[in-house]
Amino acid sequence: MALDLIAPSILSANFAKLGEEVDNVLAAGADIVHFDVMDNHYVPNLTIGPLICEALRKHGVTAPIDVHLMVKPVDRIIPDFAAAGATYITFHPEASEHIDRTLQLIHGEGCKAGLVFNPATPLSYLDYVLDKIDMILLMSVNPGFGGQSFIPSALDKLREVREIIDDSGLDIRLEVDGGVKTDNIAAIKAAGADTFVSGSGIFGQPRDGDPHRYDSVIRRMREAMAAVGR
Ligand code: DX5
Ligand code: ZN
Repeated sequence: MALDLIAPSILSANFAKLGEEVDNVLAAGADIVHFDVMDNHYVPNLTIGPLICEALRKHGVTAPIDVHLMVKPVDRIIPDFAAAGATYITFHPEASEHIDRTLQLIHGEGCKAGLVFNPATPLSYLDYVLDKIDMILLMSVNPGFGGQSFIPSALDKLREVREIIDDSGLDIRLEVDGGVKTDNIAAIKAAGADTFVSGSGIFGQPRDGDPHRYDSVIRRMREAMAAVGR
């Protein structure tokens, strides 16, 4: 079983101090930076693009950057994110006309590739491309906004995907995104996830500006996960 990774979603960070926020959350023990890209077309919200990804790299962020594309079409923007320093690039299969081509494009640009499943998106999109995937991201909210509640049926879907990955013997990360907090992260890990996105659950801590603001929430997440015997 792969090492558990905590991936704070910077969507809920203070954008006026983004570099500092990312430094603080990584210093608190987070592993990877979850980077939510929304286009006001595939999802009804507009966020950040390659310029901000590049700015984080220039600021000195060396941790993996996990770019979650909620955009349609997908392909045009992929080389820009690769050049901007993305580590993972994940996309929603409904947003690509040619899923296999998009996966090849991401790998061709030197990044790791993943597919993202909305709560109602069938897992059949994994058929025929499982060996071309480095990460499967299950949404536990409908994409577009931070701060929504975890949809419980995501736990059953996680168990299904965990079985698919284990049966395949492939090295694929299983990430969950939406409504992940200290009080449900253990159940989410027990269901099979190994990569945990949390936005409001981490950045929503009080004491804005305090460099140690994220220490205790990350510690509590690790403690909750350590109690799971999987
Ligand atoms: C939703 C985004 C998530 C979101 C998670 O479309 O993909 O990454 O920011 O935020 P929380 O943890 O607040 O649900
Ligand atoms: Zn996301």
